[in-house]
Amino acid sequence: MSNYHIKHLEEYYQVYRKSIRYPEVFWEEVAEEHFVWRKRWDKVLSWDFTKPEVKWFEGAKLNITENCIDRHLRIRGEKTAILFEPNNPEEDTQHITYQQLYERVNKFANVLKSQGIKKGDRVCIYLPMIPELAISLLACARIGAIHSVVFAGFSATALATRINDADCKMVITSDGSYRGSKTIDLKGIVDEGVAQCPCVETVLVAKRIHSEINMKEGRDQWLQPLLDAASNECEPEIMDAEDPLFILYTSGSTGKPKGMVHSTAGYMIYTAYTFKNVFNYRENDVYWCTADIGWITGHSYIVYGPLANGATTVMFEGVPNYPDFGRFWEIVEKHKINQFYTAPTAIRALAKENLDYVEKYDLSSLKVLGSVGEPINEEAWHWYNDNVGKKKSPIVDTWWQTETGGMMISPIPYATPTKPTYATLPLPGVQLALMDEHGNEITGNQVDGRLCIKFPWPAMARTIWGNHERYRETYFSAFKNMYFTGDGALRDEVGYYRITGRVDDVIIVSGHNLGTAPIEDAINEHQAVAESAIVGFPHDVKGSALYGFVILKETGESRKHENLRKEINQIITEHIGPIAKLDKIQFTVGLPKTRSGKIMRRILRKIACNETDNLGDISTLLNPDVVQSIIDGSLVKK
Ligand code: PRX
Repeated sequence: MSNYHIKHLEEYYQVYRKSIRYPEVFWEEVAEEHFVWRKRWDKVLSWDFTKPEVKWFEGAKLNITENCIDRHLRIRGEKTAILFEPNNPEEDTQHITYQQLYERVNKFANVLKSQGIKKGDRVCIYLPMIPELAISLLACARIGAIHSVVFAGFSATALATRINDADCKMVITSDGSYRGSKTIDLKGIVDEGVAQCPCVETVLVAKRIHSEINMKEGRDQWLQPLLDAASNECEPEIMDAEDPLFILYTSGSTGKPKGMVHSTAGYMIYTAYTFKNVFNYRENDVYWCTADIGWITGHSYIVYGPLANGATTVMFEGVPNYPDFGRFWEIVEKHKINQFYTAPTAIRALAKENLDYVEKYDLSSLKVLGSVGEPINEEAWHWYNDNVGKKKSPIVDTWWQTETGGMMISPIPYATPTKPTYATLPLPGVQLALMDEHGNEITGNQVDGRLCIKFPWPAMARTIWGNHERYRETYFSAFKNMYFTGDGALRDEVGYYRITGRVDDVIIVSGHNLGTAPIEDAINEHQAVAESAIVGFPHDVKGSALYGFVILKETGESRKHENLRKEINQIITEHIGPIAKLDKIQFTVGLPKTRSGKIMRRILRKIACNETDNLGDISTLLNPDVVQSIIDGSLVKK
């Protein structure tokens, strides 16, 4: 993939216009030029957003691992595909070449087969950021099994919900994981989770921390001996373009997590195309995305997008503050990183520390800096630009979602002039619309509205696993013939987009999507709790933090409240994971509700943000008195 970099703004506009006028021609050219197809497609696109049904490259046959690995072997066999940087800087970096990756993926694929995994079966992957994680994704894809990665910071209950929802036959995990100076007992979490999952037949266990763990007879198997015995040749399963490649769960504003289903061909060409252009990737660049493969960013831009380009992609096992706050920059210097992609929350955390941690290192290899997951505030943007990029590396603020599969709005580096806090312009093939609350499109510039997408793009999720109606309802029912993103956005005088944040009950904490409903359900499990409501409030590192308003069954003595706060956070940790813990918990006499009984989060949000002088009209509430009690922090009913 060599010749489709966009070089200047005028060229961007030309490419963009073409992609909108002739989307099928545009994507067909991308697909034709750069990939290995076992059979060509019969039709580029068919779609109907009312059903909704979208098919790209129907009739085509392929295997994504042939595109990510096999086809590179001839010219890039000895090139590093995955560069593994361990948690402990004293431990050696591992360079996995394309040839070695080929062998390891094939062996792993043969192990999956020998354990009875077939095309279409679901395999849950619950692993830390070690090479086995990327390899296990690819091994599933090699044999047509559908991977469902669960971020290894989720609790046993959250893991079990996801395993059961996708009816996974197998779980792949490790004995434990390293996280800075701590270790985490991953296998213990898996044991607890899988005890609630009758569908799981096998648990494969990789060794990482060499801890003493329980191996359940007949269910658990050490991975290494199976790999050692496996052949390093495994014929790829030939897949249809629209066959599911993976499921990845994301939070909704209500109900259980949604298993977004991504398909094969469209996802492959879209992640490859966007990776190449948004990072201005050139052969022999070393690219590093600090995300975890447990999130969509890692799927698309640590594994599939980079490997489809024959790139060198870094996998980092550790955390930004271990052994000290200079770790990211030490790695940039050590591996001469050219593209660095991280989240605003990490930047804000590092910006609080002494500048020496950055200045100590040679960062001159950097050419492009990326940001993803949440809005980047002006201060963080400048800190990143000044101290990391030294004002010479453009920042690509990339807006996208688990559901979109790949980046949707982003500058093209060295072509699109950047503007702090703006994701700028839609990528080729992306047709955006801002909508008002009456369902009309808002045209012109200097406007804001709800962000929608009018036309299919190849990497869009095709459904929610096991619940197509929920998919339709969540994304295609708010606005006719549009995909609704759940975000608000404004368009400035030159047509640049700035994401203003979620307009639903999803809260983004440290770049992680958290739905209010599952957290509230967890809190309500506490025997002392009658009801609860969660809202977000601004936090200088996390972007947003969680504020819980909790009604107790009995008010009790205030000295007991501190313990209750701890217990509530403990329950949340057990049900979801530590990322969903509340920063503030206020016990209250009631929650503001509409006459139909819906909690008015808008009012709670204002109280949490200390903006109580403009609460808007509260007269239509069922219980307007409760608002003053909450503001006063009173636990007595008026
Ligand atoms: O609200 C937007 C925010 O993150 C949401 C998607 O979260 P998730 O599915 O977890 O995917 C995150 C990684 C792609 C979006 O609806 N978001 C993501 N990127 C940005 C952003 N908000 C502002 N600016 C961004 N660059």
